[in-house]
Amino acid sequence: MKDLKNKKIFLVTGSAGFVGYHVTKRLLELGHIVHGIDLMTASYYDPLLKEARLNVFKNSSNYIHHKIDLANTAAVKKIQTDVGNIDIIIHLAAQGCVLRSFEFPHEYVQDNIVSFQNILELYSSNKSKKLIYASSSSVYGQSKEGDIIKEDKKNDLPVSIYGASKIANEVMAQAYYSYYKKPITGIRFFKVYGPWARPDTVFFKFVDQIYNNKPIKLHNFGKIKHSFTYIDDVVDCLIKTTTSIETRNDFSLRHPIYNFGGPHVLLEDCVKAIEKAMNKKARKEHVALPDGDRWYTFADSSLAERDLEFNPNTSITMGIKNFVEWYLTDYVHIINNLKKSKYSNSALKNKIK
Ligand SMILES: NC(=O)c1ccc[n+]([C@@H]2O[C@H](COP(=O)([O-])OP(=O)(O)OC[C@H]3O[C@@H](n4cnc5c(N)ncnc54)[C@H](O)[C@@H]3O)[C@@H](O)[C@H]2O)c1
Repeated sequence: MKDLKNKKIFLVTGSAGFVGYHVTKRLLELGHIVHGIDLMTASYYDPLLKEARLNVFKNSSNYIHHKIDLANTAAVKKIQTDVGNIDIIIHLAAQGCVLRSFEFPHEYVQDNIVSFQNILELYSSNKSKKLIYASSSSVYGQSKEGDIIKEDKKNDLPVSIYGASKIANEVMAQAYYSYYKKPITGIRFFKVYGPWARPDTVFFKFVDQIYNNKPIKLHNFGKIKHSFTYIDDVVDCLIKTTTSIETRNDFSLRHPIYNFGGPHVLLEDCVKAIEKAMNKKARKEHVALPDGDRWYTFADSSLAERDLEFNPNTSITMGIKNFVEWYLTDYVHIINNLKKSKYSNSALKNKIK
């Protein structure tokens, strides 16, 4: 598995987050060095879960954590001195919860836009060879039933500040791409799920509520259909993206941006898969769609399939089964143990400086 001849230095932002944790884990397994940045914020879920994720790396000397705020320009500049040359930056840090973006819009501007500006500056001044950054299906705004979204769809009608911040990221990346003529790739994720997922995401909430004998709320009165993407399929392709050859030399064109979207499934069918995996029935409440939310997304990921060998072949049944197993066998215990040992876990405290 390890290919030490090609050992690279990665900077992964949001490394204690859901996607960042999985990407970092895979990079370490491949023998690379990872400098992770994460402020471990408590914005929309318990940072104990972030600590638990970082705990997995505590014995790896190839993982170095930097607990800094990416919106702090001086702190990001200092990374340049502290880390030296970086081969590839994978920027995943952000405020990711769509629904709270109208409640705390300034946080989204700071953490999603100012932070990205700092990353772009770091990238342009560093000898790093490639920048991959997380965008989102939220750039597309509301879809109509049956719309299959391709990357070239006009996207100037976001329905959340979160979506607006991701559109801003793509436009900023384009300006740096055309000016500095260095490879940048944007990835529009569609509803990523799997073990270690964010507690504010739909499958996590449902499993947690069913486990705790609480009713689940089906938005839009149950009429919801999305492209759901399993985390391993995302990570496989992100790793391929780091090695894919940048063939574009006309920097006046748009930098590559790809949809990463998995199987297109009705939420009701996902609930059935959850009930089967948990061997327990859900109590359902059908409620209206909250403002700023979307009920329908359908990704066309053929560009990523063609250029990056994206292969989202994990079925929703298998993906949900894996997630439920993780929740029942690991999550409940991880969190309880961490709560108990919060102030005695010195290995972890040393890792998060
Ligand atoms: N998970 C999904 O379904 C999904 C869908 C579309 C797009 N995305 C995007 O993918 C990326 C990763 O998402 P995720 O699900 O892993 O989210 P996450 O919230 O689990 O991870 C993001 C991490 O960024 C860190 N962070 C936020 N602001 C920071 C700052 N100013 N300085 C340092 N660290 C900071 C947080 O502490 C968090 O651990 C995000 O950019 C998100 O917008 C995710």
